[in-house]
Amino acid sequence: MSNKLLEVKNLKKTFGGLKAVDIENLSFNKNELTSVIGPNGAGKTTFFDLVSRFQQQDIGEIYFKDKKITKSQPYKVSRLGLIRTFQLTKVFDRMTVLENLMFSGSSIKNDSFFQSIISTSSSKKYEKGLKDKAFEIMKDLNIEKMSESYARELSGGQKKLLELGRSLMKNPELLMLDEPLAGVNPKLAEDLLEKIKNLSDQGITILMVEHNIEAVMKISERVVVLAEGQVIAEGSPQDVRNNNKVIEAYLGTADE
Ligand SMILES: Nc1ncnc2c1ncn2[C@@H]1O[C@H](COP(=O)(O)OP(=O)(O)OP(=O)(O)O)[C@@H](O)[C@H]1O
Ligand SMILES: [Mg+2]
Repeated sequence: MSNKLLEVKNLKKTFGGLKAVDIENLSFNKNELTSVIGPNGAGKTTFFDLVSRFQQQDIGEIYFKDKKITKSQPYKVSRLGLIRTFQLTKVFDRMTVLENLMFSGSSIKNDSFFQSIISTSSSKKYEKGLKDKAFEIMKDLNIEKMSESYARELSGGQKKLLELGRSLMKNPELLMLDEPLAGVNPKLAEDLLEKIKNLSDQGITILMVEHNIEAVMKISERVVVLAEGQVIAEGSPQDVRNNNKVIEAYLGTADE
C-alpha cells in the first residue's frame, strides 16, 4: 500500500471558457494536515467539489485509498471515509443540534428517520449508539449545552462547529474542510484550529481550505497553492511563504 490517501491525475473542470480546475498531478499523504490556499476564484472549492463528487470533472482521474472514484456518487465516497464540509454551512436549521448530529451519523436517510428508529428494540440500540456518539462529539467541541437548541439559533461560529461535528459523525478518514474559520470570531477560531490539530493528531488526514494565512502557517504540515485552477506551489509553510509565484498571485488580486 502506498502512503497516498488521495490522488488526482489530469483533473480538469471548465465553466464556460473559464478553467476552474486544471491540475496535472496532486496527491495527499495519509495522516498529513495539508492546507490548500489561493486567491478568490482560484478553484479551491471546485477542487473539493470534484474530489467529493459533488461536481463532475470534464476529464481526469481521482483515487481514494487506491480505489478509482472518478465516477462514484458522493454518498459512496462518503461511505469510504472521504467527508467534506461546505464553505456555506449546510446544517438543518429546523433540527436541534443533537438531531443534526444523529441524522448525519445515521445510515437511514429519509423523512421518517426519527419514526423509523424508535420502533424496534434493535433500532433503539442503534439510536442509543448514535446519541452517545453525538454527545461525545458535542463534548469534544464544547457544544453539549446547545444540544437541544435549534441550529437556526446558533451563531455563525457555532454553526461551523456543528458542521464539523456532523462530519465527525461520519467517521472520516479524510476530512476536507472548506474555510472552517470563515466568519468565526477570533477566540472561537483559535479553539477550532486547536480541535482541527487534535483530529489530525488522532490520525485523521485533513485537507483544509483557508484564507486565514496565519492559521494555515501555524498548523499545516504541507501547503498547496492554487491560482487560476493550477497548482503554482507546494511544500512546507516556510517554503510557500517565501515563494515568489505565491507572493505575486496574492498581490495580483489585491491590486484588482
Ligand atoms: N457553478 C459554477 N458555474 C460557473 N462558474 C463557476 C461555478 N463554480 C465556480 N465557478 C467559477 O470557477 C472559479 C473557481 O471558483 P471556486 O469557487 O472553486 O474558487 P475558490 O478558490 O473556492 O474561491 P473562494 O476563495 O472565493 O472561495 C471562479 O472563477 C468561479 O467564478
Ligand atoms: Mg471557495
